[in-house]
Amino acid sequence: MDPSERRAGVAALFDQLAPGYDRSNVPWFGPIGARLVELTSPRPGDRALDVGAGRGAATFPLVDAVGPTGHVTAVDLSSAMLDQLRTEAETRAVSTLDTRTGEATPDTMPPDTFDVVTASLVLFFDPQPAETLGCWIALLRPGGRLGLSTFGPTDPAWTAAEAVLMAYAPPQVLDARTTGRTGPFATTDSVTALLESAGATDVDSHDEPLDVTFPDAAAWRAWTMTLGMRQFWASVPDPELPAVLTRIESALEPDRGEDGRLHLTQQVRYTTATRP
Ligand SMILES: C[S@@+](CC[C@H](N)C(=O)[O-])C[C@H]1O[C@@H](n2cnc3c(N)ncnc32)[C@H](O)[C@@H]1O
Repeated sequence: MDPSERRAGVAALFDQLAPGYDRSNVPWFGPIGARLVELTSPRPGDRALDVGAGRGAATFPLVDAVGPTGHVTAVDLSSAMLDQLRTEAETRAVSTLDTRTGEATPDTMPPDTFDVVTASLVLFFDPQPAETLGCWIALLRPGGRLGLSTFGPTDPAWTAAEAVLMAYAPPQVLDARTTGRTGPFATTDSVTALLESAGATDVDSHDEPLDVTFPDAAAWRAWTMTLGMRQFWASVPDPELPAVLTRIESALEPDRGEDGRLHLTQQVRYTTATRP
């Protein structure tokens, strides 16, 4: 599929997800975005860019970190996500933020400008991650800092549950999240190599665990329907849905704790780097 068609598909997916996105009670995008910003170390007065800003999981921590003398630009392919982000900015009375719909490239934004660029859980959706990364790095001033979050390993029960679903997903909805050990996001070493090949230096890539709990598999499913994973559910034919749910329920069972809840662990991969 043509890269621009693929990005249009990503925009359409997140336009559809925007109203319910990150509105479950599962602490997920918020803690990941906040930790990413912490590790990327923006300073008061910095000009920051948040690519794939969504509803602002990293954007608002950036706004707080750069303070009243700094500025944050939030970019996203999905205009509906940015509508939600602007509503939140109004609620918070934020005046140091602007938003742009589309991609962040030196053709659409001033190069050599930003002190900090973040992208939390974004790059693996891109059909050309190395080229796209090169564009983001070109928007940093020399010495500017880049921070990315992606996913590391998931616990075995969760992996097994996802595998049930993935078996139905047609190739055109699979992306770099789903290419396992062969993809550029497979290991901290491969992510480091990706950043270095795009011209970044001082790369640090490491995983930190994030634990989430669910009362049962149905609650897990409801949550995944608010994420990019929704497109995988859409591939399951209706008559097969009950059997798929039963298999997922069995797959998740080993994660049930003494409190009766399912305890799932996702390693989150944080990668920071510098533009030389
Ligand atoms: C999983 S969401 C993450 C949103 C937000 N960063 C967060 O952590 O909640 C991914 C977002 O990235 C956007 N996106 C994906 N690829 C992009 C690209 N190349 N340029 C700009 N936005 C992109 C999607 O539209 C979506 O809103």
